[in-house]
Amino acid sequence: ERRSRVRNFSIIAHIDHGKSTLADRLIQSTGLITEREMQEQVLDNMDLERERGITIKLQTTRLIYKAKDGKEYILNLIDTPGHVDFNYEVSRSLAACEGAILVVDAAQGVEAQTLANVYLALEQNLEILPVINKIDLPSARPEEVKKEVEDVIGLDCSDAPMISAKEGLNIEDVLEDIVKNVPAPKGDNSDPLRALVFDSYYDTYKGVIADVRVMDGHIRKGTEIEMMATGKKFEVTEVGIFSPGMVPIDQLNAGDVGYVSASIKNVKDARVGDTITEAKNKADEALPGYKKVTPMVYCGIYPAEGEDYNNVRDALEKLQVNDAALAFEAETSVALGFGFRCGFLGLLHLEIIQERLEREFDLNIVTTAPSVIYKVAKTNGEFFEIQNPTNMPDPQEIEYMEEPIVEASIMTPTDYVGPVMELCQGRRAEFKNMEYLEETRVVMHYDIPLNEVIYDFFDALKSKTKGYASFDYELKGYKRSELVKLDILINKELVDAFSIIAHEDKAYERGRMITEKLKDVIPRHMFAVPIQASIGNKVIARETIRALRKDVLSKCYGGDISRKKKLLEKQKEGKKRMRQVGSVEVPQDAFLAVLKFE
Ligand code: GTP
Repeated sequence: ERRSRVRNFSIIAHIDHGKSTLADRLIQSTGLITEREMQEQVLDNMDLERERGITIKLQTTRLIYKAKDGKEYILNLIDTPGHVDFNYEVSRSLAACEGAILVVDAAQGVEAQTLANVYLALEQNLEILPVINKIDLPSARPEEVKKEVEDVIGLDCSDAPMISAKEGLNIEDVLEDIVKNVPAPKGDNSDPLRALVFDSYYDTYKGVIADVRVMDGHIRKGTEIEMMATGKKFEVTEVGIFSPGMVPIDQLNAGDVGYVSASIKNVKDARVGDTITEAKNKADEALPGYKKVTPMVYCGIYPAEGEDYNNVRDALEKLQVNDAALAFEAETSVALGFGFRCGFLGLLHLEIIQERLEREFDLNIVTTAPSVIYKVAKTNGEFFEIQNPTNMPDPQEIEYMEEPIVEASIMTPTDYVGPVMELCQGRRAEFKNMEYLEETRVVMHYDIPLNEVIYDFFDALKSKTKGYASFDYELKGYKRSELVKLDILINKELVDAFSIIAHEDKAYERGRMITEKLKDVIPRHMFAVPIQASIGNKVIARETIRALRKDVLSKCYGGDISRKKKLLEKQKEGKKRMRQVGSVEVPQDAFLAVLKFE
């Protein structure tokens, strides 16, 4: 039977352990495309992903593999991202699979996200197949790493393929491993249809597309479908597979992974996590969605020019459709006018959305200082949450405040235990314990205020440990804390978009750093610009940007017109990304830049 020859799997790994490289190798070695045709990395196809070298959005592809048993197998590979901010995408793709390949770098060994991803796969009851990668590296220690995977994770590694994805070594072992050890999908073609939407997006040619895993029943062109969450009905216009790229086929059967396009006009109607059923023969119960995600970090996003407001809203709506973790609602700022309060999983997620708005939607936007969600108890008995520092009540009205705390695990070589402790102490972290993974590697557990994590903790950790430490965190709960609102005044005017909530003990230092940074990033004007940080009415730090004296053009003595032109053009370029705040021009990215400390 055909279904017994289908394998649905994902590849999971700590970032940079070689997941995308292996995916490309699998595609290539099953003959789907030749080396010459293969781009750098086939699956990571978003521009941004390529530049940053990380996977953000998941991609799916179907491989045909003729195994050693002589039979042809259909392998559906669903790509997953590796960064700590994108766990929710991982659980999304895992929900569509029966198995997961766990790639572990033979030089690095088990890292924080290796474990985190294993837990996600176990939650979905997947078969996990360890694969040791990068055995070509001189620093590779495959046998030790195998032992580490067995000891730390508890997976049997005796038959784990030892490969080099980069050199294409032993790739066939991985394919055979998948065929032998990933269970074939269950389900019955004649049952009522249930298909899990694990991704959806707008395609310029085909309109709204839902990527689905058919669990029960079948789906084909002409099927009248119903979305179980909303009850809306649509007629299927096309079904197909990813090969890679969309290839229409007649029918998707139970166990298959593919795409569905229907007369869906609004991407919102193909919600990720929803179950598609047949309108005339409905399933009794929807499929379990997967781990719900809630944003942890908020910031304001404003159009650089007010008339772009509607375009920003449209773009956010489009991005939200296949990014369940992105939240937004309208808000206004005195300094920036009409905009949106947006919620993200973390700082990287925020930066990615910001860049996508700029690149894919060609929008000029301003992003304000990120904030976590605080809880406020007022003296009058009210208790509420705030995600925008401007909504913090006057200190006299506050009984107490609470801030979110995360449980963090940091894996590091023992050499860097000192620097990691130093970093954590500077971030108000509370040490819990330390475990040895091997003689030279430990995992350290800390409780850290989320507010300290979002301000560049990850980058600071990497730089203090030469990139060797890895990090994972999970929300633990809320804790009382002495918090104050820190305001920034530019040219004596309070710029609400710069306000942050900080711990009392940190406010002075933050205020000083922000004013110093702003002094560097705000260009000189024809007049002197004072920059002040204050708590209430008390100024705690101050810098002044001196007035501009000379005409910039006087630098190019007389003659050289082309140089003058270039200079003017450069200025214009720079101008594009400025934002007028009162009488002062502030660079668009200043709002985020001031919060990068180390
Ligand atoms: P994300 O997509 O960001 O999660 O990372 P990834 O796990 O997909 O890692 P990727 O495949 O992009 O590989 C990371 C780096 O390791 C790249 O520079 C690869 O060229 C390199 N790499 C991957 N496999 C091997 C290997 O077998 N040997 C060596 N020496 N390098 C490898």
